[in-house]
Amino acid sequence: MAKKTTGKSGDASKKGTAGEGAGKGAGSPKDNAQRAERGFLRGLQNYGDADFSVYMRRAFAKSMGFSADELKRPVVGIANTYSQFNPCHRHFPELVEAVKRGINSAGGLALEFPTISLHESTLAPNSMKFRNLMAMDTEEMIRGQPMDAVVMLGACDKTVPAQLMGAASAGKPAIQLIGGPQMTGRYREHRVGACTDCRKFWVEFRAGRMQPAEIEEAEGRLVTTSGSCAVMGTASTMAAIAESLGMTLPGTAAIPAVHADRIRAAEASGAAAVRLIKLDITPDKIITQKSVDNATRVLLALGGSTNGVIHLAAIAGRCGVKLDLHRFNELSDTTPVLAAVKPVGNEFYMEDFYAAGGIGAILRELKPLLHLDCMTVTGETLGQRLAAEEGAYVDRRVIKPASDPIEPQGGLVALFGSLAPDGAIIKRSAADPKLFERTARAVVFSSLQDMAARVDAPDLDVTEDDILILQNVGPASPAGMPEAGFLPIPKKLLAKGVKDMLRLSDARMSGTAYGTIVLHVAPEAAVGGPLGLVRNGDKIKLSVKNKTLDLLVDAAELANRRTEWAKTKAIMPERGYDKLFRETVMQAPDGCDFNFLRKM
Ligand code: FES
Repeated sequence: MAKKTTGKSGDASKKGTAGEGAGKGAGSPKDNAQRAERGFLRGLQNYGDADFSVYMRRAFAKSMGFSADELKRPVVGIANTYSQFNPCHRHFPELVEAVKRGINSAGGLALEFPTISLHESTLAPNSMKFRNLMAMDTEEMIRGQPMDAVVMLGACDKTVPAQLMGAASAGKPAIQLIGGPQMTGRYREHRVGACTDCRKFWVEFRAGRMQPAEIEEAEGRLVTTSGSCAVMGTASTMAAIAESLGMTLPGTAAIPAVHADRIRAAEASGAAAVRLIKLDITPDKIITQKSVDNATRVLLALGGSTNGVIHLAAIAGRCGVKLDLHRFNELSDTTPVLAAVKPVGNEFYMEDFYAAGGIGAILRELKPLLHLDCMTVTGETLGQRLAAEEGAYVDRRVIKPASDPIEPQGGLVALFGSLAPDGAIIKRSAADPKLFERTARAVVFSSLQDMAARVDAPDLDVTEDDILILQNVGPASPAGMPEAGFLPIPKKLLAKGVKDMLRLSDARMSGTAYGTIVLHVAPEAAVGGPLGLVRNGDKIKLSVKNKTLDLLVDAAELANRRTEWAKTKAIMPERGYDKLFRETVMQAPDGCDFNFLRKM
């Protein structure tokens, strides 16, 4: 994959860098200014004396033991998100070493640096709350440190979108290296992987069909290797989006974490980053309206995670591109579902998807629908990439041809109406079509705490024909938009054998989850959206065919409820990141980015 560098990459060798003068003094101010454009002397501190800045930078560079030759090279930073709080990134040290090999062999200087790392199960209140913080950390470290390009290692759900957001804003050449999905494990006779199977087992346990000892045994079998979740959840969806945008090397998004190909991809990504400096291809030349359209089509063809809609909107917003939900529906209506990877279907996992042909196979099936002139991190267009892959093997059990898809239309659809004026999302590919056209009675929970206290109460007034509503779990709520949209089916209904029912909220849902679930209702309840005005017994009309979601309550009654709602004052945090978050986070259609971070 990697071509050898010419040695002129970054022009550092022509202009000179730190090592050139390591034993020769500081040089003239003009020389120093030239040196500062690239390599280890770029972005000097301003003491009001440029020569002193060079002298200081060199002094500390020498302390790291790099040779003068190494310090002349273009610098590629490696954003390493290894953390012992992040089991999905357990294998990153091995990948970092491979990236370094690639950079150094291509004539660059590899310098690894840490950033925040986010894991789904080890962050409170939820990892989404910290995605923007990680994006800021990534952006500022790429911008602030003397690197000419960056390779970013991410895997777990929020890490890849955070890195792409940060890199897009930092404006330096960047390559995303995906950590890759886990391999499957075994629970008794079942082949299992996180976390669609985690949820299925938990439903069985709640329904009394699994015993405590069995669920405990399953707990030790679900995640057996490093890497991101083994299904087409948010992490794998975001990896696919990164490759579809053109921000990863071709064919690398779906390689399993522990596969030797993953290590080769890491080395090749390092070498490619050195070339990218010479090509001067920055993320804004790759992330465009056209490539966002392409990535949206891939998201739809995969029946990917609903979180992908939020993250793609946030990444696009960093480059001044809007992911319009009406446009999203146009693309959804004309994009077939092609990948039978859990939670779509009930058989295949990400390791199967990779062996079946991966993202390249999906892109080739979608080729007539894609913008082929989009640039990628290799310096080739998407069209050039796909032409080179023509005729590659595809396992048709896992990746269907566009002529015979799993579904003729995309896996996700945006809904609009009086209950969601700015939109909501339903994952129709993981839902029950029998529930798509329905008017249902609302059973309302006003918060996560309220739901936890009452959902399993024997006297809860609920039937399988109702719609469960959860309020106050959107981005600006104290809950910070957790993946709570997979509302638990009340135990009394589970005991009757109910497996799915309508559920609706302003929360998100894990990409590994499934069910007839409406998410991301905007505006959210906490900022005065109509969702906060819904009361027990109201009628809600859903039509997936018409893409509508309406609250059937007359305007006068809603006005009264709004007056009452306005009297309740939300308690706002007084300090810190929580205050910044609550005051500046935008709604789901804008990707839940902070309003001051989008490109104006
Ligand atoms: Fe990390 Fe699922 S918990 S990808």
